[in-house]
Amino acid sequence: MPVSDSAIIILGASGDLAKRKLIPALERLFQKKEIDDTCRVIGSGRTPFSHEEFRAHFNRDKEFSKLLYYHQGTEGIRDFIFSLREFRRVIIFFSLPPRVYAHTAAELHREGFRDETTLIIEKPFGYDLESARKLNADLQRYFHELQIFRIDHYLAKEAVQNILVFRFANAVFYPIWNSRYIESIQINALEDIGVEDRGAYFDGAGIIRDMVQNHLMQLLSLLTMEAPINLEAEEIRIQKMQILKALEVKRWAKMQYRGYHDEKGVPEDSKTETYAELEMTINNYRWTGIPIYVRTGKAVHRKGTEIGIRFKPGPHLLYNTEGQIPPNQIIFNIQPDAGIVMDFIAREPGGSGRISSTNMTFCYSSSFLDAEIPEAYQRLLLDAIRGDRTLFVSAEETELSWEKFTPTLQQETPGMYKRGALPPSPLGIDWIDFDKYGSTCRLD
Ligand code: BG6
Repeated sequence: MPVSDSAIIILGASGDLAKRKLIPALERLFQKKEIDDTCRVIGSGRTPFSHEEFRAHFNRDKEFSKLLYYHQGTEGIRDFIFSLREFRRVIIFFSLPPRVYAHTAAELHREGFRDETTLIIEKPFGYDLESARKLNADLQRYFHELQIFRIDHYLAKEAVQNILVFRFANAVFYPIWNSRYIESIQINALEDIGVEDRGAYFDGAGIIRDMVQNHLMQLLSLLTMEAPINLEAEEIRIQKMQILKALEVKRWAKMQYRGYHDEKGVPEDSKTETYAELEMTINNYRWTGIPIYVRTGKAVHRKGTEIGIRFKPGPHLLYNTEGQIPPNQIIFNIQPDAGIVMDFIAREPGGSGRISSTNMTFCYSSSFLDAEIPEAYQRLLLDAIRGDRTLFVSAEETELSWEKFTPTLQQETPGMYKRGALPPSPLGIDWIDFDKYGSTCRLD
């Protein structure tokens, strides 16, 4: 059933995000009949536009464009949208700088938006524990927590959503998913580009705030949480919270790429980290004692996100290997080429008696040939419009995560690394050779 009778308001509609992502995503949802022609998309911003100019600004499909309207500023916007027609639900996307979130929520409330309203906001959700608490409290003064949808776009990635399916729809992995069999969990999120034109924002954040506290902790929660009793958003949230509560950040190292100071918007004496490596653990019955390594950096040698699960060796060494048997490993390739690789040991052919590591591979590109993987905003907008909170982050999760990372946020002089190269592990971690797996599913 398509969604009907909903007003979708984009605040900050003259900005880049609306043009690049939001409007195209809504157009696709309309074309796929996920939303019908009783819905309206109302842009709002400081720029004066007529409805026609607003439609022309995006230059989209003719039928879809008929749903588009514009209202300058938020004053009077509620009366305006209800003058178009009656709506059962109103979804308001904040494509705005985070510093105006609280103020905007107050304005919308003053305008008369109440229970029929859903607010969608994007990170950063605060800057540290205190500011996150304040932001949540400010928003919750006007809207109920269940009306606030916080986007973490990593949750919309297909391969991320598959983590729970892999774990809980395949009974074979269940018995081994614990500290008895797993030696370490490793999360690797790399980017080849530097901060580009986002220097001013990034310099006030650093990579722990930008990537680790939110995106990578979401990945870790999905990987390590207990099975929820069903797939309702609230049940999943409860289990994710248990992981964040038990999380302990043990060690960390920060680094900065050479030349970062020359980026636009970055002060000459900046100590902001562009690379971080952390060791954590989860102090609960399933995981205690197992190291969790997280590494993320900008301006390294390639773009790619992978998660590795390295297993402990068996109890007794039967085979004659010089040195050790390579460990069994499961690698989740999250992006750019999604798939899963499982390393295992096989006998080498012939009479040498040697054994060596080989693998089994699953690639989305070859297993689901005709599948259309929806763009992140398309998926997230549809879920928010339908009121499904599964892929959104709760206030409590953001606060708990900030709390755990507080010690790592102090300013420290970072080590330096060469732009375009992965630095040798500053914590001396025995990293899985992720470069070997990143291209397993590449379609050349
Ligand atoms: C954003 C960060 O949330 O995620 C960026 O602010 C980062 O700094 C980006 O580049 C990475 O997202 P993706 O989907 O390209 O891995």
